[in-house]
Amino acid sequence: MTRTSPAAARQASRSARDRELRASAGEPDDSPLIEVKGLRKTYETARGSLTLFDSLELTVEQGEMVAIVGQSGAGKSTLLHILGALDTASTGTVYCASTNVSHLSAREAASFRNREIGYVWQFHYLLPEFTAQENVAMPLLARGARKADALAQSANWLKEVDLDDRATHRPGELSGGEQQRVALARALVNSPRLLLADEPTGDLDQVTAGRIFELIQRLHASHGLTSILVTHNQELASRCTRVLRLENGQLTRVGAVGAGG
Ligand SMILES: Nc1ncnc2c1ncn2[C@@H]1O[C@H](COP(=O)(O)OP(=O)(O)OP(=O)(O)O)[C@@H](O)[C@H]1O
Ligand SMILES: [Mg+2]
Repeated sequence: MTRTSPAAARQASRSARDRELRASAGEPDDSPLIEVKGLRKTYETARGSLTLFDSLELTVEQGEMVAIVGQSGAGKSTLLHILGALDTASTGTVYCASTNVSHLSAREAASFRNREIGYVWQFHYLLPEFTAQENVAMPLLARGARKADALAQSANWLKEVDLDDRATHRPGELSGGEQQRVALARALVNSPRLLLADEPTGDLDQVTAGRIFELIQRLHASHGLTSILVTHNQELASRCTRVLRLENGQLTRVGAVGAGG
């Protein structure tokens, strides 16, 4: 269970009320998609506690494509896990896609992830015994869609990532770049608002990495996504709308003066 300071809790509840009021008045919700305040993350290990972040702040507006860079071990993956409700904060408030993810039960977190978050990792994590089309259909089936509908939507998504001619291939029968395209289609098939990508091009050669990045940019724009990409590739990072460096538990904007929140 996450502890939250009284001030942060008051602010979070004000933000929630503002959103509810705007929604009930039929106003478009133009509030940030991500608002992190006073985030602290501590791991208890056999050698004592390890604090990754203390008072980390982050605001991401709807439609932004933000790159997060930083040294290995800085906590980039941990931050994405917290934003995507795969891990919890030690203290602080984490608002993501209109949801206070600091206070979700395991069941609520699973439903939130399925609905709101598309994840892509360095490794594709496709299920080897299923075809590309079946893999992409999985999140829809997990949500209770009929199999025929899920497979039809999955086929459309394979077209979007230019892989309709590989629908019946199993992951082992696809190239690395093709596997990542299938993983992207699977991440987006449920129409999430937020795409979290953790070194999505880390295992690919330079040319393929560039193509996957361009595909992410295209899908980001055409589906009105908000995207956060962790990458070690400075050139690709610089093509995002904003680059943040995670260092010593804080995010700072690269190429601009001042904090990156
Ligand atoms: N469950 C855990 N328990 C204890 N320590 C952990 C746990 N998960 C991660 N860590 C530690 O937290 C630190 C940050 O890990 P994280 O994976 O977030 O780094 P990263 O910035 O993504 O690094 P990389 O660029 O190598 O992927 C590391 O030092 C790691 O050992
Ligand atoms: Mg990592």
